Amino acid sequence: MKVGFIQTSPVFGRVEENVEDVVRRLASPRMRGVELLVLPELFSTGYQFRSRKELSGLAEEVPGGYTVGRLAEIAGAMRLHIVAGIAERSSRRVYNSAVLVGPGGLLGLYRKAHLFWDEKRLFSPGDTPFRVYDIGRARIGMMICFDWLFPEAARRLALDGADIICHPSNLVLPYCPEAMITRTLENRVFAVTANRVGSEERVKDKPLRFIGLSQIVSPRGEILCRASRRRAEARVVDIDPEEARNKRITPKNHIFRDRREDLY
Ligand code: ACM
Repeated sequence: MKVGFIQTSPVFGRVEENVEDVVRRLASPRMRGVELLVLPELFSTGYQFRSRKELSGLAEEVPGGYTVGRLAEIAGAMRLHIVAGIAERSSRRVYNSAVLVGPGGLLGLYRKAHLFWDEKRLFSPGDTPFRVYDIGRARIGMMICFDWLFPEAARRLALDGADIICHPSNLVLPYCPEAMITRTLENRVFAVTANRVGSEERVKDKPLRFIGLSQIVSPRGEILCRASRRRAEARVVDIDPEEARNKRITPKNHIFRDRREDLY
């Protein structure tokens, strides 16, 4: 199964431009045959909103908004599944969300559970459970950026049968790429972390530099590919999702059945 990510460098607030940049990169020969594509957190808007009002003005309804509509067109034309981070408006609330879009349109929605720093001032905390979706070749789950710090998120998805954790991100702290190796080892799943590059300082004296290093990691903790720190780029690798279904680490150790829930 061909699985990939696009590491983007979005221009804040230019939703159509940012979406079309992804569409252009997806058309490159390097991306041919990709079946599951993961895009960064808030990939169509950029990250650092000055106010709730600004955020609400750029957020979109799911379904019905421009970004999900355009992703659905692309997924239909290219027969692939896309996981993408977007700002989602739902009545008076705005969520930092990830959507799963397939050839037939919207399939899934996840609202970020663990909000990072100033996101707490802007977004409502997620209210959707961590859920696994069967997309034919694999079962996938979604979590967003800072969710990586809470091992329960990846564990829940793995216990519910996810083969691949799709992880749209806008990372600014340095720890996540290495930490995701542990998430894959302790759950024996693949993980696709799609991060962005570039910087934003839309709020005075709060500069943010995004660390890049998007990656795909195997259930054995091998980094199958890792992007650069500074460049927008797209990568695809061939994986066998079945590798995530063997939870035995030795003939006598099963990573789920050996858990001692009675002691913790
Ligand atoms: C983050 O959760 N965007 C760091």
